[in-house]
Amino acid sequence: MKRLEIRPLQEDDKPWIRAKISENWGSTSIVTCGKIYDTTTLPGYVAFDEKKPVGLLCYKMHDDAMEIVVLDCTIAGRGCGTELMYHAEKTAKNNGYRKMKVTTTNDNTNALRFYQKLEYTISAIRIGAITEYRKTLKPEIAIKGFHGIPIRDEIELEKIL
Ligand SMILES: CC(C)(COP(=O)(O)OP(=O)(O)OC[C@H]1O[C@@H](n2cnc3c(N)ncnc32)[C@H](O)[C@@H]1OP(=O)(O)O)[C@@H](O)C(=O)NCCC(=O)NCCS
Repeated sequence: MKRLEIRPLQEDDKPWIRAKISENWGSTSIVTCGKIYDTTTLPGYVAFDEKKPVGLLCYKMHDDAMEIVVLDCTIAGRGCGTELMYHAEKTAKNNGYRKMKVTTTNDNTNALRFYQKLEYTISAIRIGAITEYRKTLKPEIAIKGFHGIPIRDEIELEKIL
């Protein structure tokens, strides 16, 4: 099977990013740690399979860590997520960062498995945070998530590089 190609996001990826993030996350805004991000303004990487975009990662550089704000792959088990994370971690290291950070939600058992297998450890659990974001920051957050589990809590993971 042909390897996926990964390259940094470019201006002309924006229409695809808008469509992809809105389809999966309700709008192009993503809330993490109580902050709202317009994902179309963030840097990141895109993965291609035979010229077709199949994966997206967007990140934000904070003072103390690189935060993965979006990770979304449409082909499972081909190493798309792993490759995108590898590229992000390499960028973080090259910019002198020692810490990676990512948040997910209580329903996303697949993401929890995925990140922990990449040596991320749970650093915080904010009970009821998503319920609060839905009331105050992003009303379009779905009530139920993966496996029909109500989305309520935010789980933060980190990795020291
Ligand atoms: C979570 C998510 C990003 C994982 O992406 P993925 O591309 O399926 O992940 P990978 O393919 O890199 O890894 C999954 C498995 O494939 C394996 N794998 C890695 N590289 C591989 C390769 N080249 N060939 C075959 N399998 C590979 C991994 O070891 C892993 O194995 P496991 O199932 O035993 O854990 C993806 O499921 C997704 O986009 N989910 C929806 C959005 C989401 O929840 N994002 C996270 C929000 S915080």
